[in-house]
Amino acid sequence: MEEKPLKDKICLITGATDGIGKSTAFHFAEKGAILILIGRNLDKGKKTVSDIIQRTKNSKIEYMQADLSIQANIIDLADRFKGKYNHLDILINNVGGFFSERIETEDGLELTFALNYLCPFLLTNLLLKSLKSSQHARILNLTSSAHRYGKIHFDDLQLTQNFFGLRAYQQSKLAIVLFTKYLAKKLINYPITVNTIHPGIVKTNICQQHNGFQEKAFKFLKNTIGISSEKAAKHITKLAVSEKLSSISGEYFVKGKIRNPSKRSKDEILAKKLWEISLNWIDLRFKISIDLS
Ligand SMILES: NC(=O)c1ccc[n+]([C@@H]2O[C@H](COP(=O)([O-])OP(=O)(O)OC[C@H]3O[C@@H](n4cnc5c(N)ncnc54)[C@H](OP(=O)(O)O)[C@@H]3O)[C@@H](O)[C@H]2O)c1
Repeated sequence: MEEKPLKDKICLITGATDGIGKSTAFHFAEKGAILILIGRNLDKGKKTVSDIIQRTKNSKIEYMQADLSIQANIIDLADRFKGKYNHLDILINNVGGFFSERIETEDGLELTFALNYLCPFLLTNLLLKSLKSSQHARILNLTSSAHRYGKIHFDDLQLTQNFFGLRAYQQSKLAIVLFTKYLAKKLINYPITVNTIHPGIVKTNICQQHNGFQEKAFKFLKNTIGISSEKAAKHITKLAVSEKLSSISGEYFVKGKIRNPSKRSKDEILAKKLWEISLNWIDLRFKISIDLS
């Protein structure tokens, strides 16, 4: 019988109750992973777990609930994970959204920045010890080709002035690429790789919250040239299991191939500045828990 490449690998996927995250969870389950799926909706979480178990016959799957736009929930999630598992092999920072209106989280942060960027920044740092305890860990961060048009608005990171959904999305996805490259350097002496992936334009429910022209344009794009979330998940799974890619770190993948990201995303001074400033946006109560060694 064929050996399952993710057999007994502990894998955590954020935003796993729909879209690309859910499809990725199916693929990982088929390949034998022990899965921890994160979402904010308990009913969707339970249904996702039972659908996957039914289809794949892999029962090593659990759902952990957390609204990942709220820092206290991210901290609590990391604590729950660490209380139960002694290491983490694969972390897929998939959660993300597009919001054409400016929404503030419970922490008073702009939602796109908090969910698409600060969540992966905080969660990854909180789980670094668990990742370091794996024999070989991989982190994969979902970005977008939209990062190419992004700028880090240091004078107004929360985009309180002239908010525009696309600007917020582009900024968050550029921030993820900068964070990934910076983290890859920090982890150079550890058996942990960290990469970004643009999965393509994918037919999912992203961008459904409002119905302005930005959403309509994106929906049109998704419906005309979009690939299925199944296909996107295949690319993610390949990056998670490929032996050939096991030592590649700090790279930007488009679907399954390494591509050159934007010039700005390779600016090391910008990346350092963003990392340091990001710490200012973490609630003081939680900074103590971050392992930045
Ligand atoms: N779709 C594309 O064309 C595309 C292109 C490039 C990059 N991406 C990136 O790919 C990633 C996944 O996108 P997708 O298209 O699969 O999106 P999606 O279909 O909207 O799925 C997003 C997932 O994240 C969950 N989620 C949203 N807000 C959350 C929160 N506050 N706390 C916890 N979970 C939350 C959703 O939960 P619910 O089920 O409760 O909504 C859902 O499970 C994102 O980072 C996105 O930026 C997507």
